[in-house]
Amino acid sequence: MSKILVTGGCGFIGSHTIVDLLENGFSVISVDDNSRSTSYALNGIEQITGKKVKNYTVDLKNFDETRAVFQENPDISGIIHFAAYKAVGESVEEPIRYYENNIFGLINLLKCVQEFNIPNFVFSSSCTVYGNPDTIPVTEASPIKKAESPYGATKQMGEQILQDFTRALAGLSTILLRYFNPVGAHPSTLIGEIPVGRPQNLVPVITQTAIGKLPKMWVHGNDYDTRDGSCVRDYIHVCDIAHAHTLAIQYLASKKNKTRCDIFNLGTGDGVTVLEAIHMFEEVSGVKLNYEIGPRRAGDVIAIYANNNLAVTELGWKIRYNLRDMMQTAWAWERKIRETEEQVKNN
Ligand code: WQD
Repeated sequence: MSKILVTGGCGFIGSHTIVDLLENGFSVISVDDNSRSTSYALNGIEQITGKKVKNYTVDLKNFDETRAVFQENPDISGIIHFAAYKAVGESVEEPIRYYENNIFGLINLLKCVQEFNIPNFVFSSSCTVYGNPDTIPVTEASPIKKAESPYGATKQMGEQILQDFTRALAGLSTILLRYFNPVGAHPSTLIGEIPVGRPQNLVPVITQTAIGKLPKMWVHGNDYDTRDGSCVRDYIHVCDIAHAHTLAIQYLASKKNKTRCDIFNLGTGDGVTVLEAIHMFEEVSGVKLNYEIGPRRAGDVIAIYANNNLAVTELGWKIRYNLRDMMQTAWAWERKIRETEEQVKNN
């Protein structure tokens, strides 16, 4: 059974991807320093799949500890690399922390790929590499524009490093997956997103406002040139994102890749405004959200959504969850977190 190493396996997308890999017959190990996650996700993975996953609590910036994982696991046939910091606003305030963590970590990992001849590598990239696109929907050939944040710059650099490294290393094939806006949670409500501190992303802000963790929320601007004035995004269920990673690994393993470094957009292809997302949540949850229209947020892209034809035709990717499912599972997960917090408080 082929073994996949997932970095950031205790995180939001990493944990959902491990579930999907296990359900598709792969064996998995995780490398996650738990600086932005907890091993709690591993319990959920075991409850869903019945399988225990070993996590190496290793910081990829520590080369020796990273290398030791490969020495202990000589049968790794592929890597899916999620481990990176991803808060846009924080990256503007602490750029060096982002460049050091996201780039050094990747470079150490790639040194091990070379030393241990790992043949397949999937990289967690982001639609943020497109910046503010001139035309939408964006395809994989859309121009890469100046990153709006150091976080976005680390994704652009990561892609460039992988393209150069793949060209230099004959035995390696890579895939770059550009996520749009991953949201929602596994239908079991046994795994989901656990934001560190106050969330920045729209859907966890919505669910924390609805449950009362946040007193209110702001819509960052409604004076944009869009159908209702608020920004347009392509929200995609985390389980659809997760399955695309399994398909990417299978695609590489079966040598179907057209080039040695293929790129795929992972979005639904539907643009949804902030206000439409809020109204869908209110309809699904029955909760009236306490929100106000506030000023625009620096660095926000006005409108972006994906042309996902390549992922659909080449990877055989099928979108299974709609916006209603995204809001429903996100809300169920938020209520589960609240339940768990209350149980801990009462014990
Ligand atoms: C979406 C829209 C906000 C919060 C970032 C990264 C991207 C990916 C997802 C990793 C924007 C508006 C938000 C709030 C609001 N990260 N909003 N009030 O910025 O599109 O993408 O996170 O995979 O790479 O760039 O996501 O959810 O922060 O914002 O009005 O309280 O919601 O202004 O228009 P974003 P987001």
